[in-house]
Amino acid sequence: MSQGPGTVEVIRDGDVAVIYLRRNWKRNALSIHMETELARVLRSDAVKTSLAVVITGGEGAFSAGADITELREMTAHSVADYYRNSGAVYEMLADLRQPTVAAIAGYCLGGGLELALAADIRVADPSAVFGLPEVGLGILASAGGVSRMVRVVGAGRARDLILRGRRIDVRQAENWGIVTEVSAPGEHVDLAKSIAHELARHPSLAVSINKQILDVSFNAPRDATLLMERLAYAVLAPIRNEG
Ligand code: COA
Repeated sequence: MSQGPGTVEVIRDGDVAVIYLRRNWKRNALSIHMETELARVLRSDAVKTSLAVVITGGEGAFSAGADITELREMTAHSVADYYRNSGAVYEMLADLRQPTVAAIAGYCLGGGLELALAADIRVADPSAVFGLPEVGLGILASAGGVSRMVRVVGAGRARDLILRGRRIDVRQAENWGIVTEVSAPGEHVDLAKSIAHELARHPSLAVSINKQILDVSFNAPRDATLLMERLAYAVLAPIRNEG
């Protein structure tokens, strides 16, 4: 299938790397080619040397999810290989040292929503529509979508959204905490950039350590998390005092 040139592009805006998904004619459906391009961009110097990252589909859809035409060809073996290759990109985004902001307009479905959930903060245009329709296709959101959705919205709402496979609008997504801010129409990328610049002004090691402790706090026992918080403080305090 024709993918078109440069389906993922990164543009630096000072300390912020802005990643654009650019396969709008396919509603940014995440083909293997596009995931591979995104992985390449995440490894690029433009991202590595940035202090915060924005990911967006721009004015069009954020992403209508995995490329359905490719899903039809998946076997048990190819799924296992997929998550060792381009399918690892969702975790690559989540594991970035920098804080990440997803700027969402239009459709944010399936793998598109999974990608947005892998970002630290999500903001949206009033046009945004969210959903995990996989159950209706006989599959599930397997790129971290089920577990991340539970953590973001809680078990009851996650069950409602995932088992019914229904779509929700931006107000409900805000109400449920999937997005934390809704921009004026057409201003979601600017809003995400301004949040990213705000994040980039914080001491980068403190941001990165806070981010990692937020991540592990979901899995680790409370006493271990508390110890990690204290140890991280012991690392950061002298740096702060020397600075
Ligand atoms: N995979 C592959 N192609 C997709 C796609 C996807 N997930 N989502 C959209 N497209 C393609 C369409 O096939 C169409 O291609 P064409 O112009 O060559 O025919 C193009 O993108 C535009 O889509 P279209 O359906 O005409 O746009 P729309 O605005 O009327 O509807 C959606 C948009 C997102 C509601 C609709 O395309 C849709 O339901 N997509 C599937 C969503 C989904 O189930 N995602 C989860 C996958 S696990």
